[in-house]
Amino acid sequence: MMVLTRLFLVLAACVSLVASSSPLSRVAHEIRRSVPIRWTPVRRADHHAVLPLRIGLKQNNLDNIEDYLLDVSHPESSNYGKYWTPAKVAKTFRPSSEAVDIVRAWLVESGLESHRIGLSPTGGWIHAMVSIGEAEHLLGTKYYVYQSSQGDVTHLACEGAYHLPEHVSKHVDFVTPTLHFNAKMKRSDSPGSVRRIGQPGAGTVTPKLVGPIKDASIGTELHDCNNQITLPCLRALYGFEYTPLAASENSLGIVEYTPNVYIPSDLDQFFKNYSKSQVGERPVLVSIDGGSIDINETDINFLAESNLDLQYAMGLVGKQQQVTLYQVGDVIGNGSFNNFLDALDGSYCAFEGGNDPAFDGLYPDPAPGGFKGPNQCGGAPLTHVISTSYGYNEADLTPAYMQRQCAEYAKLGLMGITVLYSSGDNGVAGNQGLCLTEDGEEAEGAPRFMPGFPGTCPYITSVGATQVNPGAKVTDPESACEQVIFSGGGFSNVFAIPEYQRAAVRTYLTKYPPPYAANIYNSSGYSRAFPDISANGANYLVVIQGKVFRLYGTSASSPVSAAILSAVNDARLSEGKGPIGFINPTIYSSAFNGAFNDITNGTNPGCGTNGFAARPGWDPITGLGTPNFPELLGRWLDLP
Ligand SMILES: *[C@@H]1O[C@H](CO)[C@@H](O)[C@H](O)[C@H]1NC(C)=O
Ligand SMILES: *[C@@H]1O[C@H](CO)[C@@H](O)[C@H](O)[C@H]1NC(C)=O
Ligand SMILES: *[C@@H]1O[C@H](CO)[C@@H](O)[C@H](O)[C@H]1NC(C)=O
Ligand SMILES: *[C@@H]1O[C@H](CO)[C@@H](O)[C@H](O)[C@H]1NC(C)=O
Ligand SMILES: *[C@@H]1O[C@H](CO)[C@@H](O)[C@H](O)[C@H]1NC(C)=O
Repeated sequence: MMVLTRLFLVLAACVSLVASSSPLSRVAHEIRRSVPIRWTPVRRADHHAVLPLRIGLKQNNLDNIEDYLLDVSHPESSNYGKYWTPAKVAKTFRPSSEAVDIVRAWLVESGLESHRIGLSPTGGWIHAMVSIGEAEHLLGTKYYVYQSSQGDVTHLACEGAYHLPEHVSKHVDFVTPTLHFNAKMKRSDSPGSVRRIGQPGAGTVTPKLVGPIKDASIGTELHDCNNQITLPCLRALYGFEYTPLAASENSLGIVEYTPNVYIPSDLDQFFKNYSKSQVGERPVLVSIDGGSIDINETDINFLAESNLDLQYAMGLVGKQQQVTLYQVGDVIGNGSFNNFLDALDGSYCAFEGGNDPAFDGLYPDPAPGGFKGPNQCGGAPLTHVISTSYGYNEADLTPAYMQRQCAEYAKLGLMGITVLYSSGDNGVAGNQGLCLTEDGEEAEGAPRFMPGFPGTCPYITSVGATQVNPGAKVTDPESACEQVIFSGGGFSNVFAIPEYQRAAVRTYLTKYPPPYAANIYNSSGYSRAFPDISANGANYLVVIQGKVFRLYGTSASSPVSAAILSAVNDARLSEGKGPIGFINPTIYSSAFNGAFNDITNGTNPGCGTNGFAARPGWDPITGLGTPNFPELLGRWLDLP
């Protein structure tokens, strides 16, 4: 019996290898339609060259992750607030032994000796050193050496697609190195230079700044909030007056990517004018993969984000409440979202093949100035709320890469963590104003809208931007931000709509149908729409290198929302309740009708259009609206 089975399998494998293009034996596992711009295949790769083949395995139970998350996050669930331990998360999603066995058996049957096949310690991926010839044979593809148009960089990648037997494909997320190299090249303007998440103008959101300004008002005046947003303006806009009661159990997490750093003396100068009692206060620094603020940074573009985030997050939560600064990555700026997530959750490090060197820092980094320690894998302290004001264009990354990362946000949600991301500052266009061609390539002046990631991940809360209208009072309704920046928003080309959002999005699309065809944005009502909420993003007074600037961006909206949500956590913790965790199922539920200030005016132009329009109810510019703190507090205190 044993022998027969084996014979049959060998035979099947032979058939599939002989007929490697037969659609019956194999399926295309990942596809790329065109060679990325600026890259040309110059020759077939040397048949005998050796490459490290890595096969990322599908996680077990991943199909159920949304249900698990809703179970602990939906206000009507009997398990609301019963969050999971990190150990339960790791155990639940570890790839099944069946997946390991099937992939291993396929490799052996294809001629790879079993002693060459390794399994990562966490069971997330299978690896082997193989020749190009073997890789081509296994994957039904051809490897080429590609050269950049500048001629100075070459890369190895496979052509168009790679294939796996159907029964193997089911258990695999992706294989590297294959097509992912291409995505790396797409994201950068200058081919060959791998620019990282913390680099302004390289696929990241950076606040826009104006100034320095001379006539910054001090103190508590509210008459000028249409010109200058300060802490008192934000308190007035969102009814945010709160004194923490459970500060020792709580912390608000702000994530920064080196070389973006804050300047301590700027924090003091800001506090001197707006929150005197906080002079001398500092965030608690959690250094990840060599993250440090002592890098003598002088470029204002690398100081704006961190100074903004910390001056406002710390100023809003006030003296009693600690703020945690997660400073990620070494001074050359190789840290990424994945490096951060690795540090929070040790089970993520090798999950589904682990990090992608095209986007993520690999430590120790041999480059001069690179962090020489090992990649941090678990052990970083968790805060209840985490705010990040950086992001990519969806088209910068491959779907598999984004799905892997998005699942990790769901896991943080299972652990009771609220994750906020700014939605982007270019309206329906992406970073650098890029849009999409009909073929899905990033380009200036292209017609299709460009959604931003992680805003389109259904398991984070995406935060858009509003403004106090020119000439208006702080008590007047805000509009979508139309000064210097436009609130990022729209519909994903990758992620399907989550259940919690369906009704709100359907209402918007049917009551106020946007005037664009389906080839401009995914108008089906079946794709994830963002942002979820919004907060002011215009005219923030921020001290940088001792001077006062006005800053604009969803970069501000995210930490401000995070500070308000952190106060809700404090109130719940002080009553012996758990933190609010993943908030989306709650805030879209009928129990929270009217808990946000609905924004009904303004648009988010981009890609040669006026973008979408803010309307009553949820909209893809300002989400459900801005926080109404007394309402939010009351309703969250009503939940178990
Ligand atoms: C703080 O106060 C000083 C002194 O009045 C003033 O020059 C400066 O512009 C103020 N800074 C801010 C951020 O308002
Ligand atoms: C920053 O500057 C100080 C003083 O000039 C110097 O001692 C220190 O080594 C510098 N740090 C870095 C990371 O360059
Ligand atoms: C880190 O960044 C430097 C400078 O951009 C680069 O030379 C190096 O290869 C990067 N390291 C990794 C692991 O990508
Ligand atoms: C729109 O999104 C849905 C859900 O992700 C997807 O099934 C559908 O194919 C998308 N439509 C287009 C035209 O891309
Ligand atoms: C709508 O927004 C525009 C500018 O963004 C503003 O001029 C106008 O006053 C706003 N209208 C209302 C009704 O708020």
